[in-house]
Amino acid sequence: MKKTLALILAACMSFSLVACGGGGENSTPNPGSQSTGGSQVSGSQTTTGGDAAGKTVGIAMPTQSLERWNRDGAYLDEQFKAAGYKTIVTYSDNKNEQQVNDIQNMLSQGVDLLIIAAIDGNGLNTVMNDAGAANIPVIAYDRLIMNDNVSYYVSFDNYTVGKLQGTYVKDTLDLDNAAGPFNIEFTGGDPADNNAPFFFNGAMDTLKPYIDSGKLNVVSGQTEFSVVGTEQWKTEAALNRAQNVLASYYSDGTKLDAWLCSNDSTALGVTQAVLSDYAGGNSVIITGQDGDVANLRNIKDGVQSMTVYKAVANEAVVTLDLAKAILDGKTADESLISASGWGFDCAFDTESYETTPGNKCPSFLLVPDVVTADNMEEKLVTPGYYKVGADGYLEATNG
Ligand code: GAL
Repeated sequence: MKKTLALILAACMSFSLVACGGGGENSTPNPGSQSTGGSQVSGSQTTTGGDAAGKTVGIAMPTQSLERWNRDGAYLDEQFKAAGYKTIVTYSDNKNEQQVNDIQNMLSQGVDLLIIAAIDGNGLNTVMNDAGAANIPVIAYDRLIMNDNVSYYVSFDNYTVGKLQGTYVKDTLDLDNAAGPFNIEFTGGDPADNNAPFFFNGAMDTLKPYIDSGKLNVVSGQTEFSVVGTEQWKTEAALNRAQNVLASYYSDGTKLDAWLCSNDSTALGVTQAVLSDYAGGNSVIITGQDGDVANLRNIKDGVQSMTVYKAVANEAVVTLDLAKAILDGKTADESLISASGWGFDCAFDTESYETTPGNKCPSFLLVPDVVTADNMEEKLVTPGYYKVGADGYLEATNG
């Protein structure tokens, strides 16, 4: 039932993917949304009436310049509207001050609940405290906010995302059996994004034993998240750093075997750098995350190896059911999962995430999956998230 809803919505949100033209920094806005922030009030379809009637949900997304947030915003908007809520959806152009203003506006417009994917997990204290003072529940969506007024966190298991990337490298290079040594580099995510260190640590913890034993060699020596992080997950920043690393450490013919990238926008930059600036003839293992259309093309073309896919339609389903429970004054814990009938796995976790030291945040965590050229159709086309276009590459459903 819920799975069917997710599939229908996969079709509905195809508009945004078409509009965003494959993602990257030049994405155009969703129809009816503002790309540079500012609030957009969407009309309610009031299909169910009941408890939802008259209630407004504020949905604050970080940016439209990264493909996945267009998907998230569209799914959330559709699902909440279909359940009878009014919605306000904002994208804040990756600018923290703008997101603060956008959320402030939502509060002045009398929202009953906030769903926030933070640009800077440490940058929202003022509005979070205002929300707390007004007793407005807040769901931290995908990225945790470092403030105790967060009511719940809905995300994927972020550490596992990194583990899947690291394990892919380990298995593909056959680190347990091959003689090696192999050479690898790392590109991490945005230091302002609470998820980014989780991704990095999941990958690093998986590969560190091999680095320690000498089977894997980080030729640049750049193994710290603080050094390999990428501001705002920007493709161009990842490209520039990769070009510098290649020029400084690989221009003498040193072989590069793998480049672990935390997500697809950074993988795009690294892939570009490898294609243009790496002299070696071997194909380099490059990881990613999100299943962005441009990266799926690269995977099919064999220049990116894998992406960790997170079914954001399901993340939106969990968020909707959780929001309903909160707004209806019902218990929102493990029982939400057993009562839900969701056709996908989700864990209730009260240990892994803290909004401030010692303050655990109840979390609903979905399960990420590995997508490669070999299983792309089974994982992405069969469930209806993408379709195969006339040119053989994947594109948004109905795109
Ligand atoms: C993370 C998110 C990833 C990726 C990244 C870049 O917080 O979990 O899926 O999209 O941001 O926006």
